[in-house]
Amino acid sequence: MTDWIAELKPVLVFDSGIGGLTVLREARVLMPERHFIYVADDAGFPYGDWEEEPLRARIITLFGRLLSSYDPEVVIIACNTAFTLVGADLRATFPERRFVGTVPAIKPAAERTRSGLISVLATPGAVKRAYTRDLIQSFASQCQVNLVGSKHLARLAEAYIRGETVSDEDLMAEIAPCFVRDEGRQTDIVVLACTHYPFLANMFRRLAPWPVDWLDPAEAIARQARRLVPMVEREADAEDRDFAVFTSGQPDFATRRLMQGFGLSRQYSVISP
Ligand code: DGL
Repeated sequence: MTDWIAELKPVLVFDSGIGGLTVLREARVLMPERHFIYVADDAGFPYGDWEEEPLRARIITLFGRLLSSYDPEVVIIACNTAFTLVGADLRATFPERRFVGTVPAIKPAAERTRSGLISVLATPGAVKRAYTRDLIQSFASQCQVNLVGSKHLARLAEAYIRGETVSDEDLMAEIAPCFVRDEGRQTDIVVLACTHYPFLANMFRRLAPWPVDWLDPAEAIARQARRLVPMVEREADAEDRDFAVFTSGQPDFATRRLMQGFGLSRQYSVISP
């Protein structure tokens, strides 16, 4: 472990792939004095296709290693699919650690909708979760909530970010079920309940059959993390110390370049579950 980690603990941001970068971006703005470690379990990507029990075991094992290697001040689970499954288990297994989770933004959507028709666009895993159903029951029972489990969007977001061409038809096929008309009302909010999706938000806006609010919870997650991380005065650092960890150990060239664009240039390591 290096000196800087002992001196001021880093913030660890976790996702199955590159989606958590949409949260890292906001977290950096609010915690400029902190260093960040970005962990992508890309060997397990996409999480949306996993059965619950093996995924739960994988993430708990992985965190045993990550926490002892990096000793973070706080962990941001920047993945709806992971947190809705293992958030409670992570807190129970590592009670001395602080976890900030990402869950489908159903509560704010229910507060803002005017038509009462909300769609939640997520991975097939996240729409199945008991956690997601509980959120609807607790906060949106007065709304009509349409859960849309997308099989391909997380992969399409990764492809798009790697510079591959993603066709309008492919995207449209995934988002079309979000747009519902019922008795003169229509969907007015689509919750982006997978951290990969904000990368595609401009295309979603262009393709949408009518304008809706695309709700991205990244800033709210970053604010929650800020509340848990003590504010410490620190000189700006010339050296770039943030880095990314890939469980595959083999991010491709485009992904490495993307990480560099996010200031995660320092190193690429492997911690396999
Ligand atoms: N970024 C993840 C989320 O927020 C999921 C992507 C995946 O399927 O691995 O749900």
